[in-house]
Amino acid sequence: MKHFTGLRDLGPEGLESILAKAMAWKGGPHPKHLVDKVLGMVFFNPSLRTRASFEAVMARGGGSSIVLEVGSGVWKLEDRLGAVMNSDRAEHVREAVPVLSRYVDALAVRTFAGGADDDLDHADPVMSAFRELATVPVISMESAREHPCQGLADLMTVRETFGATPRLPVTLAWAPHIKPLPKAVPNSFLLTAAAAGCEVRIAHPKGFELHPSVLAEAGAFAQSAGGSVSITHDLNAALQDSHVIYAKAWGPATESGLSAEAVKEHSEWMTRESHLGSARPDAIFLHCLPVRRNVEVADAVLDSAHCRVVDEAENRFHIQRAILDWIFGS
Ligand code: CP
Repeated sequence: MKHFTGLRDLGPEGLESILAKAMAWKGGPHPKHLVDKVLGMVFFNPSLRTRASFEAVMARGGGSSIVLEVGSGVWKLEDRLGAVMNSDRAEHVREAVPVLSRYVDALAVRTFAGGADDDLDHADPVMSAFRELATVPVISMESAREHPCQGLADLMTVRETFGATPRLPVTLAWAPHIKPLPKAVPNSFLLTAAAAGCEVRIAHPKGFELHPSVLAEAGAFAQSAGGSVSITHDLNAALQDSHVIYAKAWGPATESGLSAEAVKEHSEWMTRESHLGSARPDAIFLHCLPVRRNVEVADAVLDSAHCRVVDEAENRFHIQRAILDWIFGS
């Protein structure tokens, strides 16, 4: 039984075959490869793109989906082993996940980081419990550690513009926000670009380091793929000759809250037109969305010809179609 909750589930060959299938199927007729398949989608947190694109994939492929929003018409779920369940969490994942497995052919799960403990978040407790307890494949729709479908859609968008150029310079640029956001998206862009052999430059203010386990995994991926990973606190230096500017807000290395004052302090990190000037003239701008205009990224960047965020979001559909095909083994 295959799961897809992190990039490591694919390996280098799997990564390339998913990308190849997604790109080959894009623009063609919808294959009816999911007839009679039912996808159970469990959301602990909100979504626009992920929910809509997975539902569209299932419908276009001839299958169907069941959407469960935890705590909204569905019991709140407890995941801690040994918990005394005297809070508002009425059901434990130890029952809920095996039960759901009896109804569907695969379970897709969205669960954000708790934010109180970086080490705990990077152990990915909820997604790990689903993997352990499900008797059907489990797919990540973003977890505390990774957003692997997003990472693959990001790489597909890069490849559509620049092909599979070895050691392509790409910059992951920290962005300010009104609150500390999870690190799953930057983790997945880093891991996927590293696994594809890119020269990945991470730029962030001091105190916003990504987790050591992710940096180590990305370093290993880069080494075997012929790429590299570097870290700087100088955004303009990172952008020199970069083909890709990937902006993303994320919280500090340990949860201490990112106050409005801290945003003001780091407002120079908002991606602006001047940053485009530091990169290559044909550089593309990516962001996973949703994006807070004029906090994370200036209008002038999002409305420029460099911006590919809508193509990037479309590619979620194509990647997830290929992922489900891989999961179900057609
Ligand atoms: N990028 C992304 O996952 O978007 P949603 O949170 O809207 O699903």
